[in-house]
Amino acid sequence: MNTHEPPGRCPVRLPALSLGAKLTLTLFLLLVGSGYLVAVAKIYVWHNAADGVPGMSPDDLRAVFHGLEREVTEEVRNTLASEMLREVRPGGGMRRYLMRGGESAERALIGWLESGASEADFSVVGRFQAGDPSAKQVIAAQCIECHNAAGGDAHDLPYADARDAEPRYELVARVATPVVGEATEETRVIRLEPISSRELLHSTHAHILSIPVFTLIVAGLFLLTDVGPRFKAVLAPLPMLAVLLDIGSWWLARPFEPFAYVIAAAGALFGVTYGLQILCILACMWVGKRPAPEPGT
Ligand code: HEC
Repeated sequence: MNTHEPPGRCPVRLPALSLGAKLTLTLFLLLVGSGYLVAVAKIYVWHNAADGVPGMSPDDLRAVFHGLEREVTEEVRNTLASEMLREVRPGGGMRRYLMRGGESAERALIGWLESGASEADFSVVGRFQAGDPSAKQVIAAQCIECHNAAGGDAHDLPYADARDAEPRYELVARVATPVVGEATEETRVIRLEPISSRELLHSTHAHILSIPVFTLIVAGLFLLTDVGPRFKAVLAPLPMLAVLLDIGSWWLARPFEPFAYVIAAAGALFGVTYGLQILCILACMWVGKRPAPEPGT
């Protein structure tokens, strides 16, 4: 026992850990530290267009957690495109299947989707150029081999009852009709509904059991560093507090819109304080002063 240690000081000293222990902790910190960046990237990719305008803004958080009223402009229409339109546009996951049908298939399906995906136009052939197939024919030829209820790769998202059956409008419409109605309508205001309580419950469940665990491990390691006790007392609990504020505000923002801003503030607070803790741990572990050898050894 080192008798020169101030009383109450933790016996585990980060700089004195073995190389193996230091490497393990460093790799752990790199992983959970980049986990935060991955989470930010995911939020951006998932929600940046939630308000109908690409790019992250406070309105996206309002749209996701509270709901938002929005005037329908051309840009909003394009961004809030139906799921099917997003899948078959350039960059979409299903585009390569559509393009097996060539330009006429592209014109017919995308044209139908962009003009509102109405039932009346579903089986109209040559709508945008003479000789083009109808949207229904394109779906029959390019999509239902997988999207059929009888057992394609995507049988849980069927557009027809079987592989050789006709596509059914009601099935297609579930993913094809745009959120904001026909493109030819007058500009009007729509309400973007927040995510459902069911989805929010799912997300809360996934986050509330995992984030506090690594936040606690990082805070625990931070408490073992040599930084001053006041700094420790302030910084140690902040990331955990931020997690509580963040998840709590997901729910509070449903009735009380201002909590959407608390979500953003809590996310930033978490990022800064958690990053600072990680830096303190790494600095203390690798360049901190090793404890003086015990007298008499
Ligand atoms: C080779 C099989 C296959 C073909 C052909 C195919 N799909 Fe898919 N599609 C899938 C699978 C599997 C999924 C679900 C997994 C995924 O999202 O990748 C899917 C998902 C989708 C989704 C939902 C995406 C989501 O977010 O869940 C849409 C919309 C879609 N497809 C549209 C189409 C359209 C339109 C066509 C025809 C132009 C088409 N698919 C052709 C296999 C296929």
